[in-house]
Amino acid sequence: MERRWWISLLIAICLCVGSSGRGLETKQKVHSPLYNHTLATILVEYASAVYISDLTDLFTWTCSRCNGLTKGFEVIELVVDVQNCLQAFVGVADDLDAIVIAFRGTQETSIQNWIEDLFWKQLDFDYPGCTDGKVHHGFFNAYNNTIVRSGILDGVSRAKEIYGDLKIMVTGHSMGGAMAAFCGLDLALIYGSKNVQVMTFGQPRIGNAAFATYYSEVVPNTFRVTHEHDMVPHLPPYYQFFPQKTYHHFPREVWLYNIGLGFLIYEVEKICDDSGEDPDCSRSVSGNSITDHLTYFGVEMGCDTSSKCRIVMAPSLASYGKVDDYGNFALSRVPSKFILKKNEGPEISDQ
Ligand SMILES: *[C@@H]1O[C@H](CO)[C@@H](O)[C@H](O)[C@H]1NC(C)=O
Ligand SMILES: *[C@@H]1O[C@H](CO)[C@@H](O)[C@H](O)[C@H]1NC(C)=O
Repeated sequence: MERRWWISLLIAICLCVGSSGRGLETKQKVHSPLYNHTLATILVEYASAVYISDLTDLFTWTCSRCNGLTKGFEVIELVVDVQNCLQAFVGVADDLDAIVIAFRGTQETSIQNWIEDLFWKQLDFDYPGCTDGKVHHGFFNAYNNTIVRSGILDGVSRAKEIYGDLKIMVTGHSMGGAMAAFCGLDLALIYGSKNVQVMTFGQPRIGNAAFATYYSEVVPNTFRVTHEHDMVPHLPPYYQFFPQKTYHHFPREVWLYNIGLGFLIYEVEKICDDSGEDPDCSRSVSGNSITDHLTYFGVEMGCDTSSKCRIVMAPSLASYGKVDDYGNFALSRVPSKFILKKNEGPEISDQ
């Protein structure tokens, strides 16, 4: 029954597109950004590392999750909102020729409780500059109205001053994915859509259909990776009959799932359609797994400790920081490569 309804809807959509949208179709093909598997396996490591609670290890990029494909990365800004238990960093990845920004997901005592709460998030905030676009105020505020936004913008502008025009890549897992999306949107409005790309992992829905359309126009280079039966991308719930009144994902989903043939198992990466709610991707299965939420590409996502909002920091680190009245802080530093360049450089300046 539902299937039949979908088929008629798809036919209707095809007819519409077929009759009016040929120009658009070709245009989209040219501009449609390509999914890059290698890049996904790199960015997932950044999204995993930002969960590390030892800030000294994170700031100096010596943490247990700071090896592998992210080796050599330099953090230039680390933002910690102690009040709301948020954490993010900005840094420069030489090998990607990019500024990388990563947001930590929620660090509640129980991820289960956090996920259950997702069922009840209201679309209660009109996203500025987007007609009829609605989002959840909590997701939006976590990025925009905490120390996080100013810390990130400060880090990005310093990186650009030092390194010139680098691409900006924004990533995050779970709630961190929601924040990454709002940050990507913000940065694309400031620095231009071409310079910003977003890749999230196991991200919940954050707004309605009008918001999703707006988002995909401003940040077209966005991939939303989902994994098998991960619950979180299924939440808050989507109701296909009320796309404006309820939540709707933005494109483009990439769904990771396994196909088993006897005891051979293949991991498949399915690049989904540009609707944001491809019925043949993660929506084709039930979202009933927390375990699938906590691993992406075999990388462990989530906290390295079980205690809520634990922060470990060497006292010496405080000298890098600005602390506000609530104990929230941002640690900043000049990248060592810059110091190197400056010291090397008799050729730089002769004025
Ligand atoms: C994919 O990303 C990697 C890492 O940034 C890069 O080296 C490679 O050239 C990219 N591939 C394509 C096809 O763009
Ligand atoms: C987002 O934050 C900036 C300050 O960082 C503020 O000027 C702006 O009004 C905020 N946007 C909304 C919609 O609250």
